[in-house]
Amino acid sequence: MIFIAGATGFVGRHLLEALKDSGRQVRCLVRSPGKEDAVRALGFDTVPGEITDAEALRTGLHGVETVVHLVGIIEEKKGATFQNVHVDGTETLVREARGAGVRHFFYQSALGADADSPFAYLRTKGEAEAIVVDSGLPYTLFKPSLIVGPQDGFTERMKQLLTAGPVVPVPGDGKARFQPLYIGDWVRCFQQCLKTEAPRNATFEFGGPEQLTYNEILRELMAMLDIDKPIVHMPMGLTRLSLPFMGVVQSLAAAMGREIPAVTGELLSLLSVDNICELDSVERAFGFAPMRFSDALRKFLP
Ligand SMILES: NC(=O)c1ccc[n+]([C@@H]2O[C@H](COP(=O)([O-])OP(=O)(O)OC[C@H]3O[C@@H](n4cnc5c(N)ncnc54)[C@H](OP(=O)(O)O)[C@@H]3O)[C@@H](O)[C@H]2O)c1
Repeated sequence: MIFIAGATGFVGRHLLEALKDSGRQVRCLVRSPGKEDAVRALGFDTVPGEITDAEALRTGLHGVETVVHLVGIIEEKKGATFQNVHVDGTETLVREARGAGVRHFFYQSALGADADSPFAYLRTKGEAEAIVVDSGLPYTLFKPSLIVGPQDGFTERMKQLLTAGPVVPVPGDGKARFQPLYIGDWVRCFQQCLKTEAPRNATFEFGGPEQLTYNEILRELMAMLDIDKPIVHMPMGLTRLSLPFMGVVQSLAAAMGREIPAVTGELLSLLSVDNICELDSVERAFGFAPMRFSDALRKFLP
């Protein structure tokens, strides 16, 4: 039996699709009421609860051999802090997994995660990694760069940004590099690690076959979506200063039925630092060549 936490998110949904015909038994932690049906429709079991809910986890982990921990947040919202979700949540899940005699703990962290990082998202992910590594449970750690595919959070946000106004604002110079990885390739990597004969206690830092700047990603998306608007670079300091104002604009837009992508200081920071690794990381670790960004976009954009 596999227990998946975070199955209702972008990565989790694609993972469930891939597991649907595998004959494996899967149980998912579902924290948002209303999301159980989609999981059950695929033939999987659900347990309601939060990642910090020890009792729900204990129930969910009964008879489980493999835990897949995909829970993560990119912005803090009321009650859900990076510390609470990433660190306390991982601590609780690891503790309950140990108690349940789990034999393989898979954790998805992120490229650049480090307990010493100045960015709270990456720091708490780094702290969560240490909890998994020190747990005594056989583990697999994934540290991917940006993952893209149908309904991924990044592309959805970018689509809103590209269509929201007459110009496309870019915080800073847009020169930070990313290594986008297609979700189908991520699933292939994951499936290899799920095999019983795969080595345990392994950490994989990986990404797609190109290092693209934010500007290049933006241009590629604009070309693919046939959007032709001026790109306006805004000094990072100015963008930060306007964040409280942006919150007001967002609420007003929401009241008028329009959506403007949320921007937080943390998101801005993450857009200004390189998020890259070896170009052949997937080929070396998993033995296949991942898809280029433009080919990935062609697969899932209209
Ligand atoms: N997507 C990327 O580009 C990328 C790159 C590197 C690393 N990662 C990491 O990979 C993981 C999955 O990413 P994703 O893109 O699939 O994220 P996502 O779409 O935001 O999904 C996050 C999942 O975590 C669940 N969740 C959030 N807070 C929770 C809580 N307190 N208790 C229980 N469940 C909770 C969400 O449940 P609801 O559906 O109810 O909200 C959802 O199932 C995350 O840890 C992320 O940090 C993602």
